[in-house]
Amino acid sequence: MRPLVLITRPVQQEAIDEVAKHCDVRVHGADEPIPPELLAQAMRNVDAVMPCGLRVGAEAIGGASKLRVIANIGAGYDNIDLDACNRKRIVVTNTPDVLTEATADLAFALLLAAARRVVEGDRYVRQGSWPCWQWNAMWGAELHAKTLGLYGFGRIAQAVARRGRGFSMRVLYYARHRVSAIIEKELAAELVDRETLLRESDFLSVHVPLMPETRHCIGKSELARMKPSAFLINTARGNVLDEEALVQALQAGQLRGAGLDVYENEPRVHPALLEMRNVVLLPHVGSATAETRMRMALLAAKNLLAALNGQRPPNLINSQVWE
Ligand code: 8YV
Repeated sequence: MRPLVLITRPVQQEAIDEVAKHCDVRVHGADEPIPPELLAQAMRNVDAVMPCGLRVGAEAIGGASKLRVIANIGAGYDNIDLDACNRKRIVVTNTPDVLTEATADLAFALLLAAARRVVEGDRYVRQGSWPCWQWNAMWGAELHAKTLGLYGFGRIAQAVARRGRGFSMRVLYYARHRVSAIIEKELAAELVDRETLLRESDFLSVHVPLMPETRHCIGKSELARMKPSAFLINTARGNVLDEEALVQALQAGQLRGAGLDVYENEPRVHPALLEMRNVVLLPHVGSATAETRMRMALLAAKNLLAALNGQRPPNLINSQVWE
């Protein structure tokens, strides 16, 4: 009998076809998340799930008696209850690498947009106002020769560093592990302690995965140690940043601005942020290009098919269930 697979978003047909060569496929047609109360039911008889941006919790996993594989369409997998999967020996995979450049582009877009007030300027033009007659109107911050701080230094952060080099920025990073001397040299990136990173960054871009130990790793005391002229960029996960503390820091003038793609309670955004002109807000679109989304969907399909076929999937997260 062919395995039954649930794909929770209408991803590109090429990826659906790939899975359908070997499996029966059920695609959640509506391009919005399956409501939590319906997910358990949708997963009940399936052998594998390909979720995207969807919380797959213990209840849905517990009720899915045939479930063997969760092939997440996304690099981050904090949306999957890994403990529940480990208990039931369900294989979990993700899609790293293929979205690195797109996400780094977006982090840099936020950085430039916040620094040079791109969104604010766009609004002025659309309103028919032209503030630039005033000598000091719309003055922004320059990137050239400024310090780009990277909090976490995985693949996406390194891709951001590469962009920073293109703007002649000085690159500092803080991470649990030092990268190789070859990478440090190529990116002219210098490992510093957390304190130095916070104190010296003109632009601080956060690139750590969400885990219990990274939750609110940028909070009130970290923000207080940053330069009042600095900008904070977050394309990682909303919960690594204390959103309330960020609001207070911006209101107190402890930071000059921010660029955010992710939030603590998506799709809800702190109402105070919506009012701030020095904050650029995007709706979690780091990986949202046609090419990247295609690669993500195809890679998830590859992981899923390998695991169903008894082969170690290329992007296995919980290797303990495999041994
Ligand atoms: C989203 C992402 O998962 O890969 C990640 O970790 O944050 C994104 O690619 C995806 O856009 C679905 O929301």
